[in-house]
Amino acid sequence: MTTQPALSPSPTPSGVDALASTDSPSSTDAPLSTDAAAARSRELAASIAQDPTRHRMLTGDRPTGDLHIGHYLSSLRSRVALQDAGVDSFVLIADYQVITDRDSVGRLQDHTFSLLADYLAAGVDPRRSTIFTHSAVPALNQLMLPFLSLVTQAELLRNPTVKDELAASRRPLSGLLLTYPVHQAADILFCQADVVPVGRDQLPHLEQTRVIARRFNARYADGAALFPEPSALLNDQQLILGTDGRKMSKTRGNVIRLAATEYETAALLRKARTDSESTITYEPERRPEVANLLTIAAGFTGETPEALAAAVGSGGGALKALVIEAVNEGLRAHRERRRELVADRAQLVEILHEGNARANAVAEATLAEVRRAMSMDY
Ligand code: TRP
Repeated sequence: MTTQPALSPSPTPSGVDALASTDSPSSTDAPLSTDAAAARSRELAASIAQDPTRHRMLTGDRPTGDLHIGHYLSSLRSRVALQDAGVDSFVLIADYQVITDRDSVGRLQDHTFSLLADYLAAGVDPRRSTIFTHSAVPALNQLMLPFLSLVTQAELLRNPTVKDELAASRRPLSGLLLTYPVHQAADILFCQADVVPVGRDQLPHLEQTRVIARRFNARYADGAALFPEPSALLNDQQLILGTDGRKMSKTRGNVIRLAATEYETAALLRKARTDSESTITYEPERRPEVANLLTIAAGFTGETPEALAAAVGSGGGALKALVIEAVNEGLRAHRERRRELVADRAQLVEILHEGNARANAVAEATLAEVRRAMSMDY
Protein backbone atom coordinates (compact mmCIF):
# COMPACT_ATOMS: atom_id res chain seq x y z
CA MET A 1 0.00 0.00 0.00
CA THR A 2 1.13 3.51 -0.67
CA THR A 3 -0.44 5.20 2.28
CA GLN A 4 2.74 6.23 4.06
CA PRO A 5 2.63 9.93 3.14
CA ALA A 6 -0.68 10.38 4.92
CA LEU A 7 0.96 9.35 8.16
CA SER A 8 4.13 11.38 7.90
CA PRO A 9 4.13 14.67 9.80
CA SER A 10 3.90 17.01 6.84
CA PRO A 11 3.19 20.63 7.77
CA THR A 12 0.62 21.04 5.00
CA PRO A 13 -2.67 19.20 4.58
CA SER A 14 -1.13 17.13 1.80
CA GLY A 15 -2.33 14.05 3.67
CA VAL A 16 -5.69 14.70 2.05
CA ASP A 17 -4.39 13.65 -1.35
CA ALA A 18 -2.87 10.54 0.09
CA LEU A 19 -6.23 9.74 1.65
CA ALA A 20 -8.09 10.31 -1.56
CA SER A 21 -5.90 7.79 -3.34
CA THR A 22 -6.56 4.98 -0.87
CA ASP A 23 -10.19 4.66 -1.74
CA SER A 24 -10.10 1.11 -3.01
CA PRO A 25 -12.26 -1.13 -0.87
CA SER A 26 -10.23 -3.94 0.60
CA SER A 27 -12.42 -5.37 3.29
CA THR A 28 -14.95 -8.11 2.91
CA ASP A 29 -17.62 -6.05 4.64
CA ALA A 30 -20.27 -4.34 2.55
CA PRO A 31 -19.49 -0.69 1.86
CA LEU A 32 -21.43 2.04 3.61
CA SER A 33 -24.96 2.26 2.33
CA THR A 34 -26.96 5.30 3.34
CA ASP A 35 -30.19 3.64 2.19
CA ALA A 36 -29.60 0.64 4.40
CA ALA A 37 -28.80 2.89 7.34
CA ALA A 38 -31.97 4.92 6.72
CA ALA A 39 -34.04 1.73 6.57
CA ARG A 40 -32.48 0.50 9.83
CA SER A 41 -33.18 3.86 11.40
CA ARG A 42 -36.87 3.62 10.49
CA GLU A 43 -37.12 0.08 11.87
CA LEU A 44 -35.40 1.20 15.04
CA ALA A 45 -37.80 4.13 15.47
CA ALA A 46 -40.73 1.74 15.13
CA SER A 47 -39.24 -0.63 17.67
CA ILE A 48 -38.60 2.21 20.13
CA ALA A 49 -42.20 3.36 19.72
CA GLN A 50 -43.36 -0.13 20.58
CA ASP A 51 -41.17 -0.69 23.64
CA PRO A 52 -38.71 2.07 24.57
CA THR A 53 -37.48 0.26 27.66
CA ARG A 54 -35.85 -2.47 25.54
CA HIS A 55 -33.41 0.07 24.12
CA ARG A 56 -30.31 1.90 25.25
CA MET A 57 -29.22 5.17 23.66
CA LEU A 58 -25.74 6.66 23.54
CA THR A 59 -24.98 9.97 21.98
CA GLY A 60 -22.74 12.91 22.66
CA ASP A 61 -21.05 16.14 21.71
CA ARG A 62 -17.51 17.38 21.56
CA PRO A 63 -16.91 20.18 24.09
CA THR A 64 -15.46 22.59 21.54
CA GLY A 65 -17.94 25.43 22.07
CA ASP A 66 -21.41 26.38 23.23
CA LEU A 67 -24.44 24.62 21.80
CA HIS A 68 -26.68 26.61 19.47
CA ILE A 69 -30.27 26.58 18.28
CA GLY A 70 -29.43 24.01 15.60
CA HIS A 71 -28.39 21.57 18.33
CA TYR A 72 -31.48 22.42 20.34
CA LEU A 73 -33.92 21.81 17.50
CA SER A 74 -32.23 18.79 15.96
CA SER A 75 -30.61 16.83 18.77
CA LEU A 76 -31.27 18.07 22.31
CA ARG A 77 -35.03 17.88 22.13
CA SER A 78 -35.09 14.42 20.61
CA ARG A 79 -32.68 13.08 23.24
CA VAL A 80 -34.96 14.35 25.96
CA ALA A 81 -37.97 12.81 24.20
CA LEU A 82 -36.23 9.42 24.06
CA GLN A 83 -35.27 9.66 27.72
CA ASP A 84 -38.81 10.67 28.69
CA ALA A 85 -40.23 7.79 26.67
CA GLY A 86 -38.18 5.41 28.84
CA VAL A 87 -35.11 4.68 26.70
CA ASP A 88 -32.11 4.07 28.94
CA SER A 89 -29.89 7.05 28.05
CA PHE A 90 -26.19 7.79 28.05
CA VAL A 91 -24.96 11.26 27.06
CA LEU A 92 -21.25 11.66 26.43
CA ILE A 93 -19.24 14.84 26.67
CA ALA A 94 -16.55 13.63 24.27
CA ASP A 95 -13.54 15.44 25.66
CA TYR A 96 -10.88 13.25 24.04
CA GLN A 97 -12.47 14.00 20.67
CA VAL A 98 -11.58 17.67 21.11
CA ILE A 99 -7.94 16.96 20.30
CA THR A 100 -8.59 15.01 17.11
CA ASP A 101 -8.29 18.05 14.84
CA ARG A 102 -6.64 20.83 16.85
CA ASP A 103 -3.44 21.46 18.74
CA SER A 104 -4.75 22.42 22.15
CA VAL A 105 -7.73 21.71 24.36
CA GLY A 106 -8.84 25.35 24.34
CA ARG A 107 -11.40 26.37 26.97
CA LEU A 108 -12.29 22.76 27.58
CA GLN A 109 -13.58 23.15 31.15
CA ASP A 110 -15.89 26.02 30.24
CA HIS A 111 -17.22 24.18 27.22
CA THR A 112 -17.78 20.99 29.21
CA PHE A 113 -19.83 22.76 31.87
CA SER A 114 -21.65 24.79 29.23
CA LEU A 115 -22.71 21.56 27.51
CA LEU A 116 -23.77 20.08 30.80
CA ALA A 117 -25.85 23.16 31.65
CA ASP A 118 -27.61 23.02 28.28
CA TYR A 119 -28.32 19.31 28.64
CA LEU A 120 -29.87 19.82 32.04
CA ALA A 121 -31.76 22.97 31.06
CA ALA A 122 -33.20 21.15 28.03
CA GLY A 123 -34.51 18.38 30.26
CA VAL A 124 -31.81 15.70 30.31
CA ASP A 125 -32.43 14.32 33.79
CA PRO A 126 -29.27 13.10 35.54
CA ARG A 127 -31.29 10.57 37.54
CA ARG A 128 -32.48 8.89 34.35
CA SER A 129 -29.63 9.69 31.94
CA THR A 130 -25.95 8.99 32.55
CA ILE A 131 -23.99 12.10 31.60
CA PHE A 132 -20.23 11.50 31.52
CA THR A 133 -16.87 12.47 30.00
CA HIS A 134 -14.42 10.21 28.12
CA SER A 135 -11.48 11.16 30.26
CA ALA A 136 -13.07 9.95 33.51
CA VAL A 137 -13.82 6.43 32.24
CA PRO A 138 -10.56 4.46 31.82
CA ALA A 139 -12.24 1.14 30.99
CA LEU A 140 -14.04 2.74 28.03
CA ASN A 141 -10.75 4.01 26.66
CA GLN A 142 -9.09 0.62 27.18
CA LEU A 143 -11.59 -1.00 24.80
CA MET A 144 -9.89 0.91 22.03
CA LEU A 145 -6.92 -1.50 22.22
CA PRO A 146 -8.68 -4.70 21.19
CA PHE A 147 -10.88 -2.69 18.82
CA LEU A 148 -7.85 -1.32 17.00
CA SER A 149 -6.85 -4.90 16.21
CA LEU A 150 -10.14 -5.34 14.35
CA VAL A 151 -9.81 -2.55 11.79
CA THR A 152 -7.54 -2.16 8.81
CA GLN A 153 -5.52 0.84 7.84
CA ALA A 154 -7.46 1.00 4.56
CA GLU A 155 -10.77 1.19 6.39
CA LEU A 156 -9.50 4.02 8.56
CA LEU A 157 -8.03 5.92 5.62
CA ARG A 158 -11.18 5.84 3.54
CA ASN A 159 -13.58 7.12 6.23
CA PRO A 160 -15.15 10.12 4.45
CA THR A 161 -15.87 12.06 7.65
CA VAL A 162 -12.26 11.72 8.78
CA LYS A 163 -11.16 12.89 5.32
CA ASP A 164 -13.36 15.98 5.57
CA GLU A 165 -12.16 16.74 9.08
CA LEU A 166 -8.55 16.32 8.02
CA ALA A 167 -9.02 18.78 5.16
CA ALA A 168 -10.79 21.29 7.41
CA SER A 169 -8.15 20.99 10.14
CA ARG A 170 -5.34 22.08 7.78
CA ARG A 171 -2.99 19.92 9.82
CA PRO A 172 -1.11 16.71 9.21
CA LEU A 173 -3.11 13.59 9.96
CA SER A 174 -2.61 12.65 13.61
CA GLY A 175 -2.89 9.10 14.87
CA LEU A 176 -5.88 10.12 16.93
CA LEU A 177 -7.77 11.73 14.04
CA LEU A 178 -7.17 8.61 11.98
CA THR A 179 -8.35 6.26 14.72
CA TYR A 180 -11.02 8.25 16.51
CA PRO A 181 -13.84 6.36 14.78
CA VAL A 182 -12.52 3.32 16.68
CA HIS A 183 -12.59 5.33 19.89
CA GLN A 184 -16.13 6.34 19.04
CA ALA A 185 -16.96 2.65 18.66
CA ALA A 186 -15.76 2.24 22.25
CA ASP A 187 -18.09 5.12 23.26
CA ILE A 188 -21.03 3.24 21.85
CA LEU A 189 -20.10 -0.34 22.67
CA PHE A 190 -18.86 0.10 26.25
CA CYS A 191 -22.50 0.42 27.33
CA GLN A 192 -23.86 -1.93 24.66
CA ALA A 193 -26.04 0.84 23.25
CA ASP A 194 -28.22 -0.10 20.30
CA VAL A 195 -29.61 3.38 19.54
CA VAL A 196 -27.30 6.17 18.38
CA PRO A 197 -29.11 9.38 17.39
CA VAL A 198 -26.78 11.18 14.99
CA GLY A 199 -26.64 13.24 11.84
CA ARG A 200 -25.69 11.73 8.50
CA ASP A 201 -22.07 12.86 8.83
CA GLN A 202 -21.67 10.29 11.61
CA LEU A 203 -22.85 7.31 9.54
CA PRO A 204 -19.35 6.16 8.56
CA HIS A 205 -18.49 5.92 12.26
CA LEU A 206 -21.63 3.95 12.97
CA GLU A 207 -20.80 1.59 10.13
CA GLN A 208 -17.27 1.14 11.51
CA THR A 209 -18.75 0.47 14.94
CA ARG A 210 -21.01 -2.24 13.54
CA VAL A 211 -18.04 -3.86 11.82
CA ILE A 212 -16.04 -3.78 15.06
CA ALA A 213 -18.89 -5.34 17.05
CA ARG A 214 -19.33 -8.06 14.44
CA ARG A 215 -15.63 -8.87 14.22
CA PHE A 216 -15.16 -8.82 17.98
CA ASN A 217 -17.97 -11.31 18.43
CA ALA A 218 -16.64 -13.55 15.66
CA ARG A 219 -12.94 -13.44 16.50
CA TYR A 220 -12.78 -13.08 20.26
CA ALA A 221 -16.15 -14.15 21.63
CA ASP A 222 -16.71 -17.44 19.78
CA GLY A 223 -19.62 -15.92 17.91
CA ALA A 224 -21.47 -14.92 21.08
CA ALA A 225 -23.24 -11.56 20.79
CA LEU A 226 -21.07 -9.82 23.36
CA PHE A 227 -21.54 -6.55 21.51
CA PRO A 228 -24.86 -5.78 19.79
CA GLU A 229 -24.62 -3.99 16.46
CA PRO A 230 -25.95 -0.48 17.03
CA SER A 231 -28.04 1.51 14.56
CA ALA A 232 -28.08 5.20 13.81
CA LEU A 233 -31.31 6.94 14.60
CA LEU A 234 -31.32 9.59 11.90
CA ASN A 235 -33.25 12.75 12.37
CA ASP A 236 -35.14 13.74 9.28
CA GLN A 237 -35.61 17.35 10.27
CA GLN A 238 -34.55 20.15 8.02
CA LEU A 239 -30.96 21.15 8.75
CA ILE A 240 -30.75 24.54 10.44
CA LEU A 241 -28.37 26.93 8.68
CA GLY A 242 -26.53 29.92 10.09
CA THR A 243 -27.81 33.48 9.83
CA ASP A 244 -25.84 33.87 6.58
CA GLY A 245 -27.57 30.90 5.00
CA ARG A 246 -24.44 28.74 5.28
CA LYS A 247 -23.65 25.86 7.64
CA MET A 248 -23.82 26.99 11.27
CA SER A 249 -20.28 27.37 12.46
CA LYS A 250 -18.74 29.19 15.38
CA THR A 251 -15.86 30.46 13.28
CA ARG A 252 -18.25 32.12 10.82
CA GLY A 253 -20.08 33.99 13.59
CA ASN A 254 -23.43 32.92 12.13
CA VAL A 255 -24.55 30.94 15.16
CA ILE A 256 -27.27 31.70 17.71
CA ARG A 257 -26.02 30.18 20.92
CA LEU A 258 -28.49 28.88 23.48
CA ALA A 259 -26.53 30.98 25.96
CA ALA A 260 -27.02 34.19 23.95
CA THR A 261 -29.10 36.98 25.46
CA GLU A 262 -32.40 38.00 23.90
CA TYR A 263 -30.72 41.17 22.73
CA GLU A 264 -27.85 39.29 21.04
CA THR A 265 -30.36 36.92 19.48
CA ALA A 266 -32.37 39.79 18.04
CA ALA A 267 -29.26 41.56 16.73
CA LEU A 268 -28.02 38.39 15.00
CA LEU A 269 -31.37 37.62 13.43
CA ARG A 270 -31.84 41.20 12.24
CA LYS A 271 -28.59 40.83 10.30
CA ALA A 272 -29.66 37.47 8.86
CA ARG A 273 -29.45 37.19 5.12
CA THR A 274 -32.74 37.04 3.19
CA ASP A 275 -33.36 37.77 -0.48
CA SER A 276 -34.81 40.52 -2.65
CA GLU A 277 -38.36 39.18 -2.95
CA SER A 278 -40.72 40.79 -0.49
CA THR A 279 -43.46 38.13 -0.45
CA ILE A 280 -42.59 35.49 2.12
CA THR A 281 -42.88 31.92 0.88
CA TYR A 282 -41.43 28.62 2.04
CA GLU A 283 -39.35 27.31 -0.86
CA PRO A 284 -36.25 25.60 0.59
CA GLU A 285 -34.65 24.92 -2.82
CA ARG A 286 -35.17 28.31 -4.40
CA ARG A 287 -35.10 30.55 -1.32
CA PRO A 288 -32.88 28.79 1.24
CA GLU A 289 -32.26 31.81 3.48
CA VAL A 290 -35.93 32.70 3.91
CA ALA A 291 -36.83 29.02 4.28
CA ASN A 292 -34.19 28.64 6.99
CA LEU A 293 -35.68 31.49 9.04
CA LEU A 294 -39.12 29.95 8.67
CA THR A 295 -37.76 26.54 9.71
CA ILE A 296 -36.24 28.06 12.84
CA ALA A 297 -39.48 29.79 13.78
CA ALA A 298 -41.42 26.61 13.06
CA GLY A 299 -39.07 24.64 15.30
CA PHE A 300 -39.85 26.89 18.23
CA THR A 301 -43.56 27.49 17.67
CA GLY A 302 -44.64 24.06 16.49
CA GLU A 303 -46.38 25.57 13.47
CA THR A 304 -45.51 24.65 9.90
CA PRO A 305 -43.13 26.90 7.93
CA GLU A 306 -45.83 27.29 5.26
CA ALA A 307 -48.38 28.56 7.79
CA LEU A 308 -45.83 30.99 9.23
CA ALA A 309 -44.98 32.29 5.76
CA ALA A 310 -48.66 32.95 5.12
CA ALA A 311 -49.01 34.66 8.49
CA VAL A 312 -46.11 37.01 7.74
CA GLY A 313 -47.33 37.82 4.25
CA SER A 314 -44.59 40.10 3.05
CA GLY A 315 -41.48 41.90 4.23
CA GLY A 316 -38.12 40.67 5.47
CA GLY A 317 -38.48 42.87 8.56
CA ALA A 318 -41.78 41.28 9.53
CA LEU A 319 -40.33 37.82 8.98
CA LYS A 320 -37.37 38.59 11.23
CA ALA A 321 -39.59 40.04 13.93
CA LEU A 322 -41.55 36.81 13.94
CA VAL A 323 -38.40 34.66 14.14
CA ILE A 324 -36.88 36.78 16.92
CA GLU A 325 -40.06 36.44 18.94
CA ALA A 326 -40.26 32.69 18.31
CA VAL A 327 -36.65 32.01 19.33
CA ASN A 328 -36.62 34.25 22.39
CA GLU A 329 -39.99 32.99 23.60
CA GLY A 330 -39.11 29.39 22.82
CA LEU A 331 -35.85 29.60 24.75
CA ARG A 332 -36.95 31.79 27.64
CA ALA A 333 -37.41 28.98 30.17
CA HIS A 334 -34.33 27.13 28.91
CA ARG A 335 -32.18 30.22 29.28
CA GLU A 336 -33.45 30.94 32.75
CA ARG A 337 -32.70 27.39 33.93
CA ARG A 338 -29.33 27.57 32.21
CA ARG A 339 -28.42 30.79 34.04
CA GLU A 340 -29.24 29.21 37.40
CA LEU A 341 -27.28 26.08 36.54
CA VAL A 342 -24.09 27.83 35.46
CA ALA A 343 -24.21 29.98 38.59
CA ASP A 344 -23.74 26.83 40.69
CA ARG A 345 -20.58 25.17 39.39
CA ALA A 346 -20.33 22.92 42.47
CA GLN A 347 -23.69 21.36 41.64
CA LEU A 348 -22.65 20.78 38.02
CA VAL A 349 -19.41 19.14 39.19
CA GLU A 350 -21.36 16.84 41.47
CA ILE A 351 -23.77 15.83 38.68
CA LEU A 352 -20.83 15.04 36.40
CA HIS A 353 -19.10 13.03 39.14
CA GLU A 354 -22.22 10.93 39.62
CA GLY A 355 -22.58 10.34 35.88
CA ASN A 356 -18.92 9.42 35.59
CA ALA A 357 -19.24 6.95 38.49
CA ARG A 358 -22.19 5.24 36.78
CA ALA A 359 -20.39 5.15 33.42
CA ASN A 360 -17.33 3.64 35.11
CA ALA A 361 -19.37 0.84 36.65
CA VAL A 362 -20.86 -0.01 33.26
CA ALA A 363 -17.49 0.21 31.47
CA GLU A 364 -15.77 -1.98 34.10
CA ALA A 365 -18.43 -4.65 33.69
CA THR A 366 -18.02 -4.63 29.90
CA LEU A 367 -14.25 -4.70 30.12
CA ALA A 368 -14.48 -7.69 32.50
CA GLU A 369 -16.51 -9.55 29.86
CA VAL A 370 -14.02 -8.57 27.19
CA ARG A 371 -11.12 -9.82 29.31
CA ARG A 372 -12.91 -13.10 29.89
CA ALA A 373 -13.71 -13.53 26.21
CA MET A 374 -10.07 -12.82 25.33
CA SER A 375 -8.58 -15.08 28.04
CA MET A 376 -7.07 -12.06 29.72
CA ASP A 377 -8.81 -12.52 33.05
CA TYR A 378 -6.09 -13.49 35.51
N1 TRP B 1 -18.47 12.71 16.83
C1 TRP B 1 -19.70 13.21 17.40
C2 TRP B 1 -19.91 14.63 16.87
O1 TRP B 1 -18.97 15.29 16.50
C3 TRP B 1 -19.67 13.25 18.92
C4 TRP B 1 -19.57 11.87 19.48
C5 TRP B 1 -18.51 11.34 20.14
C6 TRP B 1 -20.54 10.84 19.38
N2 TRP B 1 -18.74 10.06 20.50
C7 TRP B 1 -19.97 9.72 20.04
C8 TRP B 1 -21.80 10.75 18.80
C9 TRP B 1 -20.66 8.50 20.09
C10 TRP B 1 -22.49 9.54 18.88
C11 TRP B 1 -21.91 8.43 19.51
O2 TRP B 1 -21.03 15.07 16.84
